[in-house]
Amino acid sequence: MQKNEIPVIAIDGPSASGKGTIAQLVAKKLAFHYLDSGALYRLIALKALQSHADILDKDLLTNIARDLNVIFNDEEIILDDRIVTKEIRSEQCGILASQIAAYPQVREALTKRQRTFRQLPGLITDGRDMGSVIFPDAVLKIFLTASPEVRAQRRHKQLIEKGINANITDLLQDIQKRDERDSNRSVAPLQQSADARLLDTTLLSISQAQDTVLSWYNEIFAKNSSLNVN
Ligand code: CDP
Repeated sequence: MQKNEIPVIAIDGPSASGKGTIAQLVAKKLAFHYLDSGALYRLIALKALQSHADILDKDLLTNIARDLNVIFNDEEIILDDRIVTKEIRSEQCGILASQIAAYPQVREALTKRQRTFRQLPGLITDGRDMGSVIFPDAVLKIFLTASPEVRAQRRHKQLIEKGINANITDLLQDIQKRDERDSNRSVAPLQQSADARLLDTTLLSISQAQDTVLSWYNEIFAKNSSLNVN
């Protein structure tokens, strides 16, 4: 089987919309591989913070991106032999990640690495440009969103559960700033592409959102198999 025949489900959308949660649940159901592309940008941010890198130094950040020594081991993320799963979830890393993600050369340095996650029996991935840039031939593209207020509540709950202090008003402001930066950058901006299905989860539970993604995928899968048979 050719690499480009391996099915990919690409979920893009704004900050704290629940993409990661849904993508991981669907990955388990389908026994697919999972790529959290945002984690790569957060890892660069963490390395930049640790080394007091100049955030305006694009070449240095690109080198960090190219040389990232990271292992995704089930739910653990290991950077340079150290578990950083929780550390990269801080708002500080998120904000810095979104600044770094605006540099085209940093994005370019991550492209090949992201595509290596396309392995049998399939891949589900989430981010901002998974369907538009990294996997344009994904069989199913979804733009997953929710209102900013609901996203701030979800992010708050997620951080508190991880033992990280957070304040809803600050989170809402961060989310709005991040939406603005991610949507207005010139390279791979956050936007719903014409071929992506919209999934607004403002009023949906996690399991309803998960079921919607699975039913869309099954629909496409059934159509493709009947095409193959005929
Ligand atoms: O917390 P949130 O879900 O917003 O963030 P994330 O998915 O972990 O990504 C952190 C930041 O990385 C985002 O604000 C984006 O600016 C950037 N990002 C990106 O530009 N492209 C991706 N494919 C994934 C993340």
